[in-house]
Amino acid sequence: MTTPPDSEREKQAAAEAAVALVEEGSTVGLGTGSTVAYLLPALARRNLDILCVATSPATEAKARELGLRIQPFDRLDRLDVAIDGADQIDPSGWLVKGGGGAHTREKIVAVAAERFIVIASSDKLVEELVAPVPLELLPFGLHATLRRLEPVALRGVPPSPDGGVIADYLGQIESPEEVAAWLAGAPGVVEHGLFPPGLVTEALVGDGSVVTRLVPGSGSR
Ligand code: 5RP
Repeated sequence: MTTPPDSEREKQAAAEAAVALVEEGSTVGLGTGSTVAYLLPALARRNLDILCVATSPATEAKARELGLRIQPFDRLDRLDVAIDGADQIDPSGWLVKGGGGAHTREKIVAVAAERFIVIASSDKLVEELVAPVPLELLPFGLHATLRRLEPVALRGVPPSPDGGVIADYLGQIESPEEVAAWLAGAPGVVEHGLFPPGLVTEALVGDGSVVTRLVPGSGSR
């Protein structure tokens, strides 16, 4: 039997630590990606009476297969908790998300949640955020939008479940706040993958054999 690489063990440890924070009777937003893939079976094993919302068809299919109750996100107007991975976490708690192209739904779910818990392996901790920043773009006027966002590249993956085109902004990120505001204000950008620290309740980061809890704004990193 081969031993999983450290990052996989760290993802699993972070996911299991997050599952322990889910309360009986709560509504839970489920993120997308390989770290969330460890979350789903661990959550199902707790056998709690919870109602979940999934941020992607892949998460929904896997969660249903494991017996988790999934509801479309058109009936609930808030969630108790959302748990999701990240591509990068900077020292102040800014995130880059959307490596799986699911960042629009992930942001909607994170914003709707009372608590947004990020789970990650230690290789996701960075000193400074760098490109790519995932984008979801409206197909209408796509090439005009791309021209205004340069440097940018289409990702060449299928559209999002909402019909959006997935691309990546490839420019410098000197100030995540400024880049986020610029992308948010650009017509044709449905959503970008920069998540502000104010959205993050805590990040649980697998770090060797322990899980470190980081709380943006608390000076814990
Ligand atoms: C998907 C995401 C993921 O949370 C992010 O890409 C991290 O993925 P992984 O857990 O596979 O490293 O934002 O859109």
